[in-house]
Amino acid sequence: MSIQKLKITHVRNLKSIILEPSASINLFSGHNGSGKTSLLEAIYFLGLTRSFRTNKMLSFISESHQNCSVYGKIVHNSNIMDLGVSRTINNKQKIKIEGVTRQSVAELAHYLPIQLIHPDSFTCLQAAPSIRRKILDWGVFYHHPQFGVIWKMMYLSLKHRNALLRSKRYTQIELDTWTKTFLESATQIHILRMQYIAQLIPEFKHIIYSETKLQSIDITYYPGWNDITDLRHVLASNQSKDMALGYTTAGPQRADLKITYQGRLASDILSRGQQKILVCALKVAQGKLFEKTHKQRCVFLVDDLPAELDPEHCEQFINMINPLFSQFWLTAINTEQLQPFFSKKTIKMFHVEHGAINN
Ligand SMILES: Nc1ncnc2c1ncn2[C@@H]1O[C@H](COP(=O)(O)OP(=O)(O)OP(=O)(O)O)[C@@H](O)[C@H]1O
Ligand SMILES: [Mg+2]
Repeated sequence: MSIQKLKITHVRNLKSIILEPSASINLFSGHNGSGKTSLLEAIYFLGLTRSFRTNKMLSFISESHQNCSVYGKIVHNSNIMDLGVSRTINNKQKIKIEGVTRQSVAELAHYLPIQLIHPDSFTCLQAAPSIRRKILDWGVFYHHPQFGVIWKMMYLSLKHRNALLRSKRYTQIELDTWTKTFLESATQIHILRMQYIAQLIPEFKHIIYSETKLQSIDITYYPGWNDITDLRHVLASNQSKDMALGYTTAGPQRADLKITYQGRLASDILSRGQQKILVCALKVAQGKLFEKTHKQRCVFLVDDLPAELDPEHCEQFINMINPLFSQFWLTAINTEQLQPFFSKKTIKMFHVEHGAINN
């Protein structure tokens, strides 16, 4: 998938933008406050109906305007499709796919798979496991079409199980019923995650070892319980602990990716720049695996690439993405220094100034 035409109306300082990007590399330069991040935020909104930098969608809509909208003509399986998302200051949201109103964000995400790398990406190694779970599940969602439905079932049964545990007023039969539903979906999620990670790790290692100086990097998948024992037994033996705490302490809702460098936690010893390039390699590996599996491109949004990266590390990143077919939207205050690193010919350069974009 790639965006062929983009129309943005009233997103932050972007009042009215129409762009025809390259299907390959797009570079956006501009001063602080010109609107570079807002542009990527608008594309993210088109794929996921939310912002990556705020939960307060009111601040996403241009000041003194009642609504915002992003429309994209995208290429999907060689077909041209229309996607549109709009939002009002009263929180009314509309998703349109091929002109028809839809409710499902998952459907939108299916047509526009977005990988985001932002200036704080290096923090994801130190962040809570949920951040690394999101990275993992991005891949599992696209790799296994059934994942979204199973994931919803797992969270629904977990919610019911936790509500029972919290209430402390339930029969063993009631708890067993929700435990059984939870266990079924949790086991399937674990299997799908394991299958995905088994394919992702070799891609990731290949990229990181061939393009960076970081060697002896390892990723271990932690399923959310000690998997020497199966989850059924863990849930049974944790029952009194779960009752006392009022929630389920084991399961895929606690999964994590443990990333080590020379046997120690990467977040404990790598510099911020080294952590960022590692996270970049992981996301590029996901993009590459996506391309292999679907014979399709995904859309990479890379905000302020040089943040935390020196020119050598920027070059390493560009060497990582050069073999990919995906569509890249890269921003930096100055993109001219990045241009020579690209081997691809189809680069489009844009300049962002006071909310206007020119090429
Ligand atoms: N709701 C809004 N309405 C109008 N303008 C806004 C709104 N929210 C933010 N802005 C302004 O939009 C401008 C663009 O911000 P943006 O973060 O996109 O800049 P940027 O080019 O990424 O800058 P930097 O290089 O510092 O990251 C800023 O001047 C900001 O103050
Ligand atoms: Mg910015």
